[in-house]
Amino acid sequence: MKGIILAGGSGTRLSPSTDSINKHLLAVFDKPMIYYPLSVLMLGGIKEIMIISTPEDKSRFEALLGDGSDLGISISYREQSNPNGIPEALTLSEDFIDNEPVALMLGDNIFYGQGFTTLFREAIKNHKHATVFGYRVKDARRFGVVEFDHNQKVVSLEEKPEHPKSDFAVTGLYIYDHKAVSIAKKLKPSSRGELEITDLNKQYLKFGQLDVELLGRGFAWMDAGTHESLFEASEFVKITQQRQGFKLACLEEIAFYLGYISKDAIYEKGMSMAKNDYGQYLLEIAEREHNQQYWESIDRNPILGLVENE
Ligand code: DAU
Repeated sequence: MKGIILAGGSGTRLSPSTDSINKHLLAVFDKPMIYYPLSVLMLGGIKEIMIISTPEDKSRFEALLGDGSDLGISISYREQSNPNGIPEALTLSEDFIDNEPVALMLGDNIFYGQGFTTLFREAIKNHKHATVFGYRVKDARRFGVVEFDHNQKVVSLEEKPEHPKSDFAVTGLYIYDHKAVSIAKKLKPSSRGELEITDLNKQYLKFGQLDVELLGRGFAWMDAGTHESLFEASEFVKITQQRQGFKLACLEEIAFYLGYISKDAIYEKGMSMAKNDYGQYLLEIAEREHNQQYWESIDRNPILGLVENE
């Protein structure tokens, strides 16, 4: 499975903060926003990832993440010249997708919760045509909205409806089969002048090929696309990290526990930023001599959960 992160857009909702910097490079508490979607794709076991951004910002993402080899993955980059809509991510990366299934993730989405990795990995494993993830929200009008019948069967999808038919938002993580590219090519812009991901999902729904996985109340899902939600996301990350002592979306930690990079690599990275808290966290991971033995002794991988479940 290939992975795509869409990190372009006009950033107008966060202006003036985004007048000279891409939204997805702003910090969500202690790390750039792009770390969060990247961590999700990595946790899903996806190793070939393309980041799509604006022509002005592409080089900034490259400077931050390089070719991904420091994380044991491959990251490539592509430009979206105008924010023509989310489905354009699929047509722009047709050669990268190369007829394989693909997980598309919006660069301002944050997922967190026990069991999320397992749920996402299961969704990838059992995926047939299109899979999206639903999440109950208080104000569904800001999102794509999915409506169910009494048997939990999807009956409708609507983008930012004035009168939502349910409280379930469609989150910004989508898994598609190879058909998505050709469907995206046929879409027409909506009344707001954009290609809509909801229109693409509606095509799958029409042919009975849309699966919706619901994320329960034990999960946190946020999109950090407004000043309020960006601030709330930062607060959430700060409180969760301080309480537990684990960092959310620490890419090097994830790469280490997935076996992509060595303890030496994590140590070196930690030393390169030893003066800050992120670097200290990496050093702690590297310096816990019996770290790996400890987790093995209780049959548990701190990232993947119970080893036998994977
Ligand atoms: O966050 C989930 C929601 O994301 C879904 O519920 C909606 O169905 C979906 O349309 C989308 O709604 P938003 O209003 O949040 O989309 P927004 O225009 O903010 O774009 C989402 C991200 O994708 C954002 O990080 C910017 C990026 N983007 C967006 C467009 C339209 C691009 O990189 N290029 C684009 O052309």
